[in-house]
Amino acid sequence: MDKLGELLKMVEEHGTPLFIVDHEKLRRNYRTFKKHLPRVQCYYAVKANSQQQIIETLFEEDSSFDVASYNEFMQVYQYIKHFEKQKKKDYVWDKIIFSNTIKDRTTLGKIKQYKPLVTYDNSAELIKLKRYCDTAGLVLRLKVPDTGSQVEMASKFGAEPGDAQQLIQQAFDMGLKVEGVSFHVGSQCTNFDNYTVALDIAGTILHDARRKGFPLNLVDIGGGFPVPYDPGVPQFEQLGKILNSEFARLFPDDIEILAEPGRFIVATAATLVSEIIGKARRDGKVFYHINDGVYHTFSGVVYDHWIPNFHAFKGGESEICAVVGPTCDSFDKISLSVELPWNLDVGDFLYTENIGAYSTASSTKFNGFDGAKIIHTKDAASHG
Ligand SMILES: Cc1ncc(COP(=O)(O)O)c(C=O)c1O
Repeated sequence: MDKLGELLKMVEEHGTPLFIVDHEKLRRNYRTFKKHLPRVQCYYAVKANSQQQIIETLFEEDSSFDVASYNEFMQVYQYIKHFEKQKKKDYVWDKIIFSNTIKDRTTLGKIKQYKPLVTYDNSAELIKLKRYCDTAGLVLRLKVPDTGSQVEMASKFGAEPGDAQQLIQQAFDMGLKVEGVSFHVGSQCTNFDNYTVALDIAGTILHDARRKGFPLNLVDIGGGFPVPYDPGVPQFEQLGKILNSEFARLFPDDIEILAEPGRFIVATAATLVSEIIGKARRDGKVFYHINDGVYHTFSGVVYDHWIPNFHAFKGGESEICAVVGPTCDSFDKISLSVELPWNLDVGDFLYTENIGAYSTASSTKFNGFDGAKIIHTKDAASHG
């Protein structure tokens, strides 16, 4: 059966809106990441899509995990809680990072027993860490350029490179241990210079600290790895080549390199099927009202600056249409400019590809709409 036939079959069984996660594609994305960045330990950024089944598939692939909160930590921890004590400790230390630079005191108190790896970017955080979680290994997050990235990070996170040595010194003076440095070049980073500049900054700071006798041994290059949402996006393979040669130039073999990809692993692994529930011409333009919107699976349009794609199952003469969500809020417009057949009817379906990241993760129940049903296809023969 072709892809559209398979989608329709699933819709027949489950209804719409239907969010379909293809686990074979997830595995392929994870393996592609590993293949092109063989020196990098891959920590899946759970925030991109925290569906438990996704974590499970990646756990089975031996992925490591970047968690933002205690709850995300527990979503991973459930797979290792039966390990014997030392193995459990080793797993948390080796394969989980708390990449949120600001952690509240309660969270720190709860994670102290696990001896976690955590990021920080300011001195107030050090004081909190010392008081509530002094077992942690620390990673100093640096502010780096995020020019041209779809989602910028530098305005909220990262120590100024000029403050880095002082923040490292302060941590050691307090009896804490800094393991390395990290950065995030902004999400969906298609400007690869951001990575090379960031690596230079990280390398300079790390080597300066080592010269001063601080035993830093890791560089965490964050997320940002771009997804081929459109044909203009530069290839991941090309980024891999650039990064591998920069790693060889900047970092001797005893320095571990980590990354926290979210979008790259999960975006292309999901497809959404929505249904047209209303149709009107407004100021001459066809408005398709569908049963999913920006408060639900298309939340990425708001939070992720995502430009969604829509495809019809039926052919027909196309024109520029609007596609809007089901809520009473006029803000719930997904796109005012989508080329679609103008002759679609109520009851027809649309599908949206590459919607796995920052979509269901930030969906609400606004106006009493539940949001899409999520299903998981596991085998190599499934669609995609
Ligand atoms: C600290 C951190 N790491 C990793 C990620 C994942 O980034 P991406 O989805 O661009 O790979 C994010 C995204 O917000 C983040 O904040």
